[in-house]
Amino acid sequence: MRSKLVAGNWKMHGSRAENAPLVEAILAVSGIESIECVLCPPHVYLADVGRMLRDSSVRLGAQNLSAESAGAFTGEVSAAMLRDVGCQYVIVGHSERRHLYGEDDMLVARKCAAALARGLTPILCLGEQLSEREAGRTHEVIERQLEAVVGLTGIEGFGRAVIAYEPVWAIGTGLTANTEQVREMTEHIRTVAASLSLDGVRVLYGGSVNAENAASLMKEGRVDGFLVGGASLKAESFLAIGQAANDCYDGKR
Ligand code: PGA
Repeated sequence: MRSKLVAGNWKMHGSRAENAPLVEAILAVSGIESIECVLCPPHVYLADVGRMLRDSSVRLGAQNLSAESAGAFTGEVSAAMLRDVGCQYVIVGHSERRHLYGEDDMLVARKCAAALARGLTPILCLGEQLSEREAGRTHEVIERQLEAVVGLTGIEGFGRAVIAYEPVWAIGTGLTANTEQVREMTEHIRTVAASLSLDGVRVLYGGSVNAENAASLMKEGRVDGFLVGGASLKAESFLAIGQAANDCYDGKR
């Protein structure tokens, strides 16, 4: 059975002064213990936030990593470094990385492989742009993105990776995919994953998830959790989303 997971992608937000009360407020609340909760602050705050999360069940994740393991790669951060500061998760292939920083399917696949090789769990983002959805190419895009990764890591290697379905047109726009669209896509991704012999892979949804829509996306969208951007910067909304996932807890992790 797949455990529920809610990850907060802080993107390029936060400061030491803002992070501490946010993390404290998240840690102060009980009632979401049955789900896995992950915070993904910017790299410079990972060690700090990691210290705050020590002795808690909330896990640390990064937003990006290098595909390289070490060397003359100015400005890059390796999987081993992320492990060294306590990360267990890393977001890979976020649409902002794909579209603003030109990360193609092969680079995303190499990053996933680098994460897996060092024991990090990648949260692999897949998603179509609006023009691709309108052209009826949504399935093809998602399949191409997933197959590129599995082609490199192999089925065994992909093992514990998590998939986040994030339609590009719904990210940071306030436009959430409706529950029907989310359900159709999560089911499609599970079918494609099963056809690649990836069984039991967790499929999250991301894209303008908030305290109001989380419960219905969870139940009707049949997702295993969420990758949350904007709403993860406020403890109340992030916790409400965690609560919605927790309420769908089925007694198995
Ligand atoms: P959003 O971002 O929740 O602000 O739309 C989601 C994401 O980019 O992961």
